[in-house]
Amino acid sequence: MYSSVVAGPRRSILVALSLLGLLLTPAPSPALGSQDLTGFWVWRVPRGDGTYRETVLNLKQAGEHLTGKVVLGGRNLPITDATVKQGHVHFVVSLRPREEERRIVYDGEVEGGRISLASEVPGRPVWQGTAERTTAAAAAPPPRLPLPALHDVPDNGLVRTPPMGWNSWNKFADKVDDATVRAIADAMVSSGMKDAGYVYVNIDDTWQGSRDAQGRITPNHKFPDMKALADYVHSKGLKIGIYSSPGPRTCAGYEGSYGHEEQDAMTYAAWGFDYLKYDWCSAAQIYKDDEMRAVYQKMGDALRKTARPIVYSLCQYGRAEVWKWGSKVGGNLWRTTDDIEDNWKSMSAIGFSQFALAPFARPGHWNDPDMLEIGNGGMNNDEYRTHMSLWALLAAPLLAGNDLRTMSEETKGILLNREVIAIDQDPDAKPARIVAEEGESVVVVRPLHDGSTAVGLFNRNDQPKQVSVSWAQAGLSGMKGRVRDLWKHEEVDASGDRYSAVVPAHGVVLLKVTGQR
Ligand code: GLA
Repeated sequence: MYSSVVAGPRRSILVALSLLGLLLTPAPSPALGSQDLTGFWVWRVPRGDGTYRETVLNLKQAGEHLTGKVVLGGRNLPITDATVKQGHVHFVVSLRPREEERRIVYDGEVEGGRISLASEVPGRPVWQGTAERTTAAAAAPPPRLPLPALHDVPDNGLVRTPPMGWNSWNKFADKVDDATVRAIADAMVSSGMKDAGYVYVNIDDTWQGSRDAQGRITPNHKFPDMKALADYVHSKGLKIGIYSSPGPRTCAGYEGSYGHEEQDAMTYAAWGFDYLKYDWCSAAQIYKDDEMRAVYQKMGDALRKTARPIVYSLCQYGRAEVWKWGSKVGGNLWRTTDDIEDNWKSMSAIGFSQFALAPFARPGHWNDPDMLEIGNGGMNNDEYRTHMSLWALLAAPLLAGNDLRTMSEETKGILLNREVIAIDQDPDAKPARIVAEEGESVVVVRPLHDGSTAVGLFNRNDQPKQVSVSWAQAGLSGMKGRVRDLWKHEEVDASGDRYSAVVPAHGVVLLKVTGQR
């Protein structure tokens, strides 16, 4: 325990009068830095959409040394680099332990039993407010609810080819609102995306408000009328998606569906939603990974009970080998990885690591290596072509994550490439395989429904490189003569027993080969 240091020198002449003096003087309030911060704190900051962002701090102080955890969006994040010195408190949490750059830095002043606190993620606005003491009981997650016995939820018959659409998170995060969703729906039509097959307009995290007296979820101030919004999106010939968590809180700390699964499914159906992304987040505070199947089954059953066709998207970052049971809980797609970021390192690490899972994808049930970052500005167009080509070869959901209102012609050329989309949407959903990997060159092959073969020649190097494939490697015993380059939109020379091309740095040559298998 940190012992109190009484502030202020005492002059020796007062010593004689000390007893009387101390009795007559009110006790000094604890001075800066004199408090022991050990215990639970709750920090609620208004977000501006009618909701509060709630952070729980569980601190342990020993002198100037501070340890403990920050509970944010249901995640327990250990604090590091922590100190308390003369009333100033400082600590850091890493959002993802392996990525130094995603840090939240907290600084505060301890004042009269409270901490006046500010947190900052580099490049984002500062959060500021006052943390108050709370009890362990008040800070604890709600009590555990029983889980259902396992059974197989019947297939809902939806998304026989990988779902295509848009999702708000990658570009807009907590800035998504009603007006943006409407404008994106408009742009989905006017840009030609709808005609190319993009259908779902999906609202991700941060739409939620509080529950009403009956426990029904209401949207926050950014979304005045969910039913009217769904009607608007439907009026454009599109479908609309929503987001929740099986935990008490979503990853951004908004209200989750814990204990309200059936009620929420009914609400989404009544509003007219066609798609639910269901994100593990704070369910981790209550359940273990090996209970995920039962947790996801609960919502799978609830969606089925609504009798509305609702695509069910599981998001638990590929834990617990979800590809083996995702379809059994009624899942139409399941995330297989951590969150993608708009950079080459993240996208390529995800994309090239997914081929072993390809055999688990099949009509109605898809691996989801996360949403597209094409057009968001963190990669060049060769890298975005690699992104689109990998996702198409993997039969991954094509959920654009950019601002469809302001797409450049090059971004459109990538997202709207119908020949590449056709590979993604091939009705046979046969798995793609890596047939050659040499240094930074990777050759991927996927058989298609019409008897042709998709071949991707990838160059992960940061210099242009020649990459080649023999027709035998591509599983073709002979060539009947047609090789089409799907990014150049032209036929290329198919003579000889192999095809070679100089592939740009981080780029791809994607071919459709018509030969004999
Ligand atoms: C998680 C998911 C993301 C996104 C955010 C929203 O990180 O993996 O795709 O939905 O939550 O908070």
